[in-house]
Amino acid sequence: MNILLTGGAGYIASHTAVVLAQAGHQVTLFDNLSNSQKSVIANLEAITAKTIPFIEGDVRDTQLLSQVITEHHIEAVIHFAGLKSVAQSVEDPILYYANNVQGTISLLEAMQANGLNKLVFSSSATVYGDPEYLPYDEHHPLKPMNPYGQTKLQVEEMLHDVSRSNADWRVACLRYFNPVGAHPSGLIGENPSGIPNNLMPYVARVASGHLPELSIFGNDYDTKDGTGERDYIHVMDLAEGHMAAIDFLEKHSGWHAINLGTGQPHSVMELVTGFEKASGKAIPRKIVGRRPGDLPVYFATVDQAQKLLGWSAKRSLDEMCESVWNFQTKSMS
Ligand code: NAD
Ligand code: UD1
Repeated sequence: MNILLTGGAGYIASHTAVVLAQAGHQVTLFDNLSNSQKSVIANLEAITAKTIPFIEGDVRDTQLLSQVITEHHIEAVIHFAGLKSVAQSVEDPILYYANNVQGTISLLEAMQANGLNKLVFSSSATVYGDPEYLPYDEHHPLKPMNPYGQTKLQVEEMLHDVSRSNADWRVACLRYFNPVGAHPSGLIGENPSGIPNNLMPYVARVASGHLPELSIFGNDYDTKDGTGERDYIHVMDLAEGHMAAIDFLEKHSGWHAINLGTGQPHSVMELVTGFEKASGKAIPRKIVGRRPGDLPVYFATVDQAQKLLGWSAKRSLDEMCESVWNFQTKSMS
């Protein structure tokens, strides 16, 4: 199938591009490079030994999107393009609504103009907010706690309305938990600019000596060892989940929200220990106060993904840590 990946040069999209291309799909990548680098494309071509078309552009440019859809005979879209920093979304909500919500409206207009109706959307566990119960299932109330999460919820609702308006639409909103890890080649992975906000890339930079020590945000939570617990999912599992969603939409119409996680929470300390084992390096760390806005623990119910997509995550926390260390040593030193 000819599949357009918006935000195609980004972290999750690049891994998904590999999985799709290796399964015989033709992927076309579209990205404004606001949080990624064009050099990713050459690495994708090296991994897949295929030519991967790349178009530099903004998803808010409806006309350019429409042209790409026509020229590349696009049959389905995976919409990764968006901004994802919670802190930045609090400081500049307009930027977030403009990119994430307006960007999706523009994409939908381009799709509609071309009679295209298969869409997978990158949503987030952040749509659930403060847990009323755990693990979160897809029926859990949706109360995001920041503008970033609001943009994801608004897009989900908009897509639901669109699919109610016309039964031809086929939409999967994939609610990712905490994606980490890298492709086994070590050629692509997560490479945030500046000092990372998220745990795994921060730990990787401490292990490699680029940062002096990890601050652990609180060890007095009501969790197994007092540190925060999350449902970390290997990005290659996540990538395979996208392919399963595309296959699912071939056979099913309507709007579907699906958690993509492992269903297993791991603590900050477990991740740190796992990374020390994978890298053979000690991770200097200190306990500091809780990070404002952090939840103690959250993780997914994964039955829906298994039932609808026939997909479940396979890779362990150790494999996540090993792949990040492999990427760190091969591509980041
Ligand atoms: P990423 O920043 O690596 O990838 C997003 C890509 O979109 C970047 O390459 C960026 O340049 C591009 N982009 C942003 N705005 C654009 C625009 N207006 N037009 C065209 N391209 C644009 O992030 P990622 O981690 O790969 O996340 C992909 C998607 O998954 C995002 O929508 C994100 O909100 C969502 N998500 C990510 C996580 C996570 O932890 N990484 C968790 C849940 C959901
Ligand atoms: C963050 C985002 C969330 C996003 C997710 C993607 C916030 C409030 N939430 O979630 O919207 O979907 O990333 O993966 O930013 N930690 C430390 N030290 C650090 C960094 C993190 O102890 O230097 C701890 C945190 O307190 C948390 C855990 O590590 O317990 C994971 O943190 P992080 O990787 O930032 O992810 P989330 O907080 O789950």
